[in-house]
Amino acid sequence: MANPLYRKHIISIPDFSREELELVVDTAARLKQNPRGDLLQDKLVASCFFEPSTRTRLSFETAVQRLGGNIIGFADGGNTSAKKGETLADSIKIISSYTDAVVMRHPKEGAARLASEFSAVPVINGGDGSNQHPTQTLLDLFSIRETQGRLDGLTVAFAGDLKYGRTVHSLAQALSLFGARFYFVSPEVLAMPDYICEELDEKGISYTVAASLEEVIPEVDVLYMTRVQRERFDEAEFRKIQGQYALRADMLKNARPGMKVLHPLPRVDEIAVDVDATPHAYYFEQAKNGVYARQALLSLVLNETV
Ligand code: CP
Repeated sequence: MANPLYRKHIISIPDFSREELELVVDTAARLKQNPRGDLLQDKLVASCFFEPSTRTRLSFETAVQRLGGNIIGFADGGNTSAKKGETLADSIKIISSYTDAVVMRHPKEGAARLASEFSAVPVINGGDGSNQHPTQTLLDLFSIRETQGRLDGLTVAFAGDLKYGRTVHSLAQALSLFGARFYFVSPEVLAMPDYICEELDEKGISYTVAASLEEVIPEVDVLYMTRVQRERFDEAEFRKIQGQYALRADMLKNARPGMKVLHPLPRVDEIAVDVDATPHAYYFEQAKNGVYARQALLSLVLNETV
């Protein structure tokens, strides 16, 4: 029987069942333990980044090459025929006629879903505006399972830019399938969007809006920090809230021993460098886990059985 992700578009976390998320996490764990160099043999993947990226693009490219596949693409939409006015729909029709899967990052919310409607092959969303970043969520879930030993029943604080931070939207939706309890710590102008809170209410998931990092640190298994998304934000407003909710090593003295600090990166000033040397810092390992999670996802999307 084909795995349930075979030939599927990967657009948004609400499209996944709990079992599908666990399948990716289990497969990532297997590939981390026992590397494979053959799972994407004869597969060609397009990497189409219309918005800047370091980790997502390069970890996808690493994942494809380590699995024996090939990759083509671009890191700057400004060097493509989009610059001449070609629609995304036409670009994707062409690119998907050359390749076996299309990984795409785009600044517009909904762009990945639109691309999937015109693509002959699976589209994998590498981030669409402030909407979703499902593959980041897969590596976040994998990192959480690696550090906590489970996904069920965890207490997780999200801090920083909860409004524009697409990674927190995707991860809150995913963890809601595992009975998480949440704390939200942000300036009021960057609060978690109503639609996410309403989804959590519908599922009976408990969340608390907290005023400071210090009050949540002793309570949580995972502290998920985020950068204020300056590129999606009015500059005057940005200056008003810049530097609020920054984490320093001395603030972690009351943290649980196994508590881990995650961050999708890049960081700016929201995690001081002195946190890096604490046993709570896990964000660099988290970024490395991106290769295993993306290897797992590509293998499942492009092979009936893995
Ligand atoms: N976490 C993440 O998406 O990083 P990049 O923007 O560097 O891809």
